[in-house]
Amino acid sequence: MAKCMQKIVVMGLGYIGLPTASMLATKGHQVLGVDVNHDVVTTINSGNIHIVEPDLDILVKSAVNSGKFKASITPEEADTFIIAVPTPFKITATNPKAPDLTYVEAASAAVAPFLREGNLIILESTSPVGTTDRIAEIIAELRPDLRQQQIYIAHCPERVLPGHIIRELVDNDRIIGGINKPSAEKARDLYKSFCNGNIYLTTSKTAELAKLVENSYRDVNIAFANELSIICEKLDINVWELIELANKHPRVNILQPGPGVGGHCIAVDPWFVVAAVPEEAKLIRTAREVNDSKPHWVLDKIKAKAARFKNPVIGCLGLAFKANIDDLRESPALEITRALAALGVGTLMPCEPNLNSEFSEFPCFPLADVLRKADILVVLVDHEEFRSVDPSILKEKVVIDTRGIWKIM
Ligand SMILES: NC(=O)c1ccc[n+]([C@@H]2O[C@H](COP(=O)([O-])OP(=O)(O)OC[C@H]3O[C@@H](n4cnc5c(N)ncnc54)[C@H](O)[C@@H]3O)[C@@H](O)[C@H]2O)c1
Repeated sequence: MAKCMQKIVVMGLGYIGLPTASMLATKGHQVLGVDVNHDVVTTINSGNIHIVEPDLDILVKSAVNSGKFKASITPEEADTFIIAVPTPFKITATNPKAPDLTYVEAASAAVAPFLREGNLIILESTSPVGTTDRIAEIIAELRPDLRQQQIYIAHCPERVLPGHIIRELVDNDRIIGGINKPSAEKARDLYKSFCNGNIYLTTSKTAELAKLVENSYRDVNIAFANELSIICEKLDINVWELIELANKHPRVNILQPGPGVGGHCIAVDPWFVVAAVPEEAKLIRTAREVNDSKPHWVLDKIKAKAARFKNPVIGCLGLAFKANIDDLRESPALEITRALAALGVGTLMPCEPNLNSEFSEFPCFPLADVLRKADILVVLVDHEEFRSVDPSILKEKVVIDTRGIWKIM
C-alpha cells in the first residue's frame, strides 16, 4: 500500500456512504463498506448498486473490480472509520420532531471493539450539535482501555446534491470540525486524497451547526416565497409577476414558491436546531411551520375549485419532492395527492414521468392523457416535461400552478 493510503471502514452504504466508499477505493484506499442490510451488501459485492444516482454504477463496479472495495455486515480493524448512517427525527413525549440518534449510536458502538490507538472516526451524517462529542463518550464508555487523546474524532458534513453526487463529492468545499485540532487535521489529510474543493477546519460543534444552518437558510428563504404566494392570493396579485419585479432590485433575490418543502434534508434538518434551542430558534421554527402548512393551503385551493364541478377529473402533475428526480421522500406533491385520494375529491389522474412501474400506490397516467381528460390541472412539480405543454390546451382547463411554470395565478 502507498504511504498515504489507508484501510477505511465506511458504516452505512446509502446515498452518501456508497459514493464516498467507492470514491475512496478508486483513489487507492482499501475500503470495507458496512451495512446492516444484507441485500445491500450482496448487491454491492456483485458490483451492482441499489440506489439511483448517475454514474454511481460505474464507480462502484470499478471499485469492486479493482479489489479495493468490498461490503460486509460487520466492521473490522482499520485506520479510519467513516459513519454515514441515517439521522431522521422521531416522535417523543415532549417533541414530535426530536432528532433520532439511534443509528449513529449503533454504528459507533459497532466500530468500538475494532478501534486501536491512533484511529480516526469521521461522522458524515447530518447531526445535531454535540453528536461528535457523544461519539467520543460512547467510545470512552465501551473502550476504557484506550487513552482517549489517541482516538481522533471529527465531523465532516456532506453537502452533495442528489443527481450530482459524484461530481460534488470531489468539487465541493468541505468543512471539517474536530473534537480537537489534531482530529480535524487528520481528517483533512484523508479528504485531500479525493476532494478538490477547499477544506476549512473548525470545531466539531461549529461544523455540525454549519450544516444545519445551510439547510435552515434555504428553508427560511423558501418559506418567505411560500408566504408571499398566500399573501398574493388574498390580495389578488400574481405572485410570479410580483417576484420577478421585486427581483429587479439589485439586492433582492426572492426564491420561487411551491406546494411545500420536501426531501429528507431541508424538511428535516432545521428541526434539529429547533430541538436544541426551542426558545431562540423562532424564525427557523416558523419557516418550518409555514412550509409544512403549504400543502394544506394547496389542498384547500384544489377542493374549492373542484366544488364547482360534478366529479371533476383532476390531473396531478408530479409526485416527486422536486423537479426531474424520482425521489418521493417527504414529498408535498405526494402528500397533496394522497389527501385528495383519501378525501375522495374528484377522479384523480396523477402523472409522474420519473417513476417506473414499481410505483404502485397510484395508477400514473401519460401526460398526453392527463392533458386531454383533466378538468382541473394541478402543477405540483416543475418537471421539464410539463414546461413544454402547449399553452392553448390550458385555456379550457382550471389550472392551479403551484410552481409557476405557466405563471398562472
Ligand atoms: N442523501 C443526501 O443527499 C444527503 C446529503 C447530505 C447529507 N446527508 C446525510 O447523510 C446521512 C446518510 O444519508 P443517506 O441519504 O446516505 O441515507 P440512506 O438511508 O441512503 O443510507 C443509510 C444506510 O445506512 C445503513 N445503516 C443504518 N444503520 C446502520 C448501522 N448501524 N451500521 C451500518 N449501516 C447502517 C442503512 O441500511 C442504509 O443503507 C444522513 O445523516 C443524511 O441526512 C444525506
